[in-house]
Amino acid sequence: MAIRPILRMGAPVLRAVAAPVADVTAPAIRALADDMLDTMAAAGGRGLAAPQIGVSLRLVMFWAPLADPDSRSRDHAVFTILANPVLELVDPVEVEDWEGCLSVPGLAGRVPRARGLRYRGLDLDGAVVDRLATGFHARVVAHECDHLDGILYPQRMTDLGTLRFLDAADPVQD
Ligand code: NI
Repeated sequence: MAIRPILRMGAPVLRAVAAPVADVTAPAIRALADDMLDTMAAAGGRGLAAPQIGVSLRLVMFWAPLADPDSRSRDHAVFTILANPVLELVDPVEVEDWEGCLSVPGLAGRVPRARGLRYRGLDLDGAVVDRLATGFHARVVAHECDHLDGILYPQRMTDLGTLRFLDAADPVQD
């Protein structure tokens, strides 16, 4: 287990389409997930995708607010690992909210995302994870899965005028 450097916007691997995980139960995948968890925890992140530590595989992890989908608190969130996730839009109406990303440090922007989706994938035991997500929960999943297709949140923004430095003078207003 190790804390790995988090790649920042501009690194080619962050623009690449990641490859499927062939065997989710392989020890190398477990080791990768361990490193991702250490790295995400050290950075205080909400979620992380394997390409962010330079591994172009379809593996993401995030804290899922199952009980209160709009809560940004991690207190009651469920840690989730997903290999080869597939998203399906359930409620395509888009809502805008703030997002940040460990690969775009120091910045936040308002990003439109679908209000509800279904996500499916495998955990590291090979068990199927199949959930419906709304609100912030859906936003987190969509953001992490975008990383697997080489997409960073600024590419999803419709108003780049909202892109801001977190330490700029005015506090972010939701
Ligand atoms: Ni991100």
